[in-house]
Amino acid sequence: MAAENKKACVIGWPVAHSLSPRLHNYWLSLYRINGSYDAREIRPEALNQALSQLEAEGYSGCNLTLPHKELVMGLLDEADATARQIGAANTLIFKNKKRIGLNTDAYGFAQSLREQTGAIKASKAVVLGAGGAARAVCAALKQEGVQQIIICNRSSEKAQALAAHFGAGFLATPWEQRETALSGCDLLVNATSLGMQQKEPLALDLAGLPLSAVVCDIVYRPLNTPLLLAARKRGNRVADGLGMLIWQAVPAFEAWFGVRPEVNPTVREYLLAA
Ligand code: ATR
Repeated sequence: MAAENKKACVIGWPVAHSLSPRLHNYWLSLYRINGSYDAREIRPEALNQALSQLEAEGYSGCNLTLPHKELVMGLLDEADATARQIGAANTLIFKNKKRIGLNTDAYGFAQSLREQTGAIKASKAVVLGAGGAARAVCAALKQEGVQQIIICNRSSEKAQALAAHFGAGFLATPWEQRETALSGCDLLVNATSLGMQQKEPLALDLAGLPLSAVVCDIVYRPLNTPLLLAARKRGNRVADGLGMLIWQAVPAFEAWFGVRPEVNPTVREYLLAA
């Protein structure tokens, strides 16, 4: 008898830009798993119904992308500690008639940083941005034991709210102070959308950043953002945003399809060729 056909998908609005189908289908074929992974464009108001539909169709679970990650929190039976801390879930598992939400973005960020630059030893980090991506980055840095985390965002009230949410060790600083904040910093993370294709670049002079600092961008289109190019040129180690996308998918793939997939240069190349 053929092995059970396991199914998962990504839900977004829009969803066409998502690399998740390419990634999961690559691993499904590599590990010869009888399964499928598709994409569904679902409006926010139809999310609950879409999840019920997936459950009825026997799906193992799904990924969620914008704008569903926060919305879904009110539609779950259970959520893991990271999803609760961040207030957003990017991965759902349907099990025993329950919807279980996980957030694997924080894990994805930390693993990607480790893979590309070695052990995370930062004691002072600067995070630019205070949106959904920044929340996941902050959760990861807290879990990794980084002592001081400065959040810097264009809308300062969002930075303040985020710093207050994460508590001890987190501080908000005005967007205009972002270059001053780089002094003594050993990890800089761009968690804004600046630097993305068709967006303005991030205006940031790195002169005050120690050369020993690691610079990380969560933007992966383009892979070599102006920030990473500038950092690399002056001798900083860098981590690009594609790693986070790949690593956040690892625990999800394992939960749905039963195999822990390997992250290697081949899978990166395959995604970049898209
Ligand atoms: P995501 O979920 O990917 O984090 P988001 O929640 O829309 O997306 O957050 C985008 C981030 O990029 C925010 O921190 C945003 O700053 P605001 O909170 O002030 O909106 C930041 N951002 C976007 N465009 C920006 C710009 N032109 N200058 C500075 N920051 C910008």
